[in-house]
Amino acid sequence: MTATLEPGTLTGPRGWPLLGNLPAFARDPLAFFEDLRDRHGDWVPWSLGPRRALLVSRPEHVTELLAGVEHSFDPMDLGWAFRHLLGEGVVVATGEDWRRKRALVQPVVRPRQVKAYAATMVEYAARLAESWEDGRRVDVLREMAGLTQRIAVRTLFGSEAAGQEEAIGRAMGVAQRELGAEARGLTLFLPPWVTTPGRHRLRGAVHRLDQEIERVIAEHRAAAAAGEERDDLLSRLLAARDDTGAPLSARELRDEAITLYIGGHETTSTTLVWAWQLLSRSPGARARLDAELDSVLGDRLPTFEDHARLPWTQQIVRESLRLYPPIWLISATAREGASLGGRALPTGTAVWCSQWSVHRDPRWFEDPLAFRPERWDPDPPLRTVEQAWFPFGGGPRACLGARFALVEAVLLLAVLARRFHVDTGPGLARPFPGLTLQPADPVPATLRRTGTA
Ligand code: HEM
Repeated sequence: MTATLEPGTLTGPRGWPLLGNLPAFARDPLAFFEDLRDRHGDWVPWSLGPRRALLVSRPEHVTELLAGVEHSFDPMDLGWAFRHLLGEGVVVATGEDWRRKRALVQPVVRPRQVKAYAATMVEYAARLAESWEDGRRVDVLREMAGLTQRIAVRTLFGSEAAGQEEAIGRAMGVAQRELGAEARGLTLFLPPWVTTPGRHRLRGAVHRLDQEIERVIAEHRAAAAAGEERDDLLSRLLAARDDTGAPLSARELRDEAITLYIGGHETTSTTLVWAWQLLSRSPGARARLDAELDSVLGDRLPTFEDHARLPWTQQIVRESLRLYPPIWLISATAREGASLGGRALPTGTAVWCSQWSVHRDPRWFEDPLAFRPERWDPDPPLRTVEQAWFPFGGGPRACLGARFALVEAVLLLAVLARRFHVDTGPGLARPFPGLTLQPADPVPATLRRTGTA
């Protein structure tokens, strides 16, 4: 059976009756998208169960698709698990509700505010480096997840959450794991009333999380009422007002707090885990990193302003995000009258694009599988199409935390790399496309003190 999409000349992969290409997609979505791109081209109809789908692989189509979300395309329905955890937070909300929430949340993470969080990022990274010892074996996945989690709890809830840090982190960890399992598995298509062991665990974690967050919000409200000024994200959300002068309700505050945590912590920690592995295999890139940190920082810790003075560190992060984009696919559904690349799309078509397959396409990135941070030099030695790099999505629903994430990744890398080589050896973990593109297994590393700082 060959799937077709009006207007009719397109061909895609063969699929199963009823299931379509769902089995191949669920088995290995990364390989599936690369295969569609390589064997069928830039515009490939396929089917996800009964749903008509289309994969686009050209950067201009991706840009047009993302720009059209909330106008001619509906954003992807993220499913029951996301809604259960994130409520109607900005990632889940659509239409007018989304517009209002995005306008309320955006100022909280705008670049000027990120500056206020840089000191916390650096402080926590320095503390981690102090706890490390020369020659010790660690699991980098755990180390980075723990670090970004502590930073997320602190920047979101402030130092007052210190007591709850562990409990919130644990419940978030369980919720995040179950969310990943749901996003990847066939349960995504099960109706909400079907209970699975994973869904049961998720419900339990959300219940605990709600209790903890309710307590933190109550504390923040009391502090605000007493005129106390705080600079954490939750305090800023509490102070935010929409066009009509209305604040976020208690439920909305809870939803946005969890959204910012889920949106920002695992994405950034996996970026770092991949960066350490790529650096371990690339002595030249590592040597240039050491030289940059030595000349810009010497023996001092970085500040927010140093982010701009560390172009090579930034390029390492950029290149890691190209090869291992934490969010590896985006999908949106065509509304009536939607078109793309000049073609009319049948209403309801789910259009997909994958950061994974576009970022690894030799047409846009010369030598695409190689880790070459120099491709982001102002005068790049390799052909590089900037428009084909979209780890943060694009258009009206582009990532709200891109600046936050880039500053955090660069500062953490700078603090830790100045003090240690995180040597993961010559291998590379197998990527597991869950909620984010995680290494499938633990990533063991040997810590080696750099001998400086
Ligand atoms: C390396 C780290 C990160 C990556 C790769 C990433 C990636 C993404 C992507 C691909 C989207 C969807 C964009 C689209 O649909 O076009 C998104 C949305 C979002 N991200 Fe991030 N993100 C990261 C870090 C963060 C951080 C640190 C925060 C918060 C502090 C955050 C908050 C959000 C929010 C709130 C949205 C929803 C925006 C909306 O729907 O209007 N992200 N992110």
